[in-house]
Amino acid sequence: MKIFLVGFMGCGKSTKAKQLANKLNCLVIDLDHEIVAKTGKTITAYFAEFGESGFRNYESQMLKTYNYPETCVVATGGGLPCFFDNMDWMNEHGETVYLQMEPAQLVSRLHNRQKRPLIKDLDDDQLLEFIKIKLEERNPFYNKAKLIVNAFDLDGEKLALALNNQ
Ligand code: S3P
Repeated sequence: MKIFLVGFMGCGKSTKAKQLANKLNCLVIDLDHEIVAKTGKTITAYFAEFGESGFRNYESQMLKTYNYPETCVVATGGGLPCFFDNMDWMNEHGETVYLQMEPAQLVSRLHNRQKRPLIKDLDDDQLLEFIKIKLEERNPFYNKAKLIVNAFDLDGEKLALALNNQ
């Protein structure tokens, strides 16, 4: 079974994917890291060179062509579920979990903004506004996930339990 974790930047997809994979004793795949490894460019550099639409195309292609092991946990980029048919594709190919978090909590967790091109130039107030607007846009996609969990105070153990009790 493949388990795709989706949610906004800063909700902890990468960390929780690692913890869950540890708990389930399976591999973890971080699609952003795979993009960086394959292109040799940071996400910020990729955006600068090819624009957001170039990145979205590459990201979708990576999602759909990656050679996933039978069982794995996949951390996805925050925007990935909201482009093309990516969210439906993930629902067809595995479990999907939305790690939900409040805008103010996301702001307090997004210290390292430089590696995130969409928010790299925003201060805290601007970031809060940006998150509120983007979440309105993105929630209809995130909410298609088969399981929705509150990501605050969540760890791999609790996530595994939530998946089990589904
Ligand atoms: C993005 C989120 C990032 C990365 C890119 C765009 C977004 O991933 O894919 O900077 O549109 O929300 P993380 O959610 O892992 O930060």
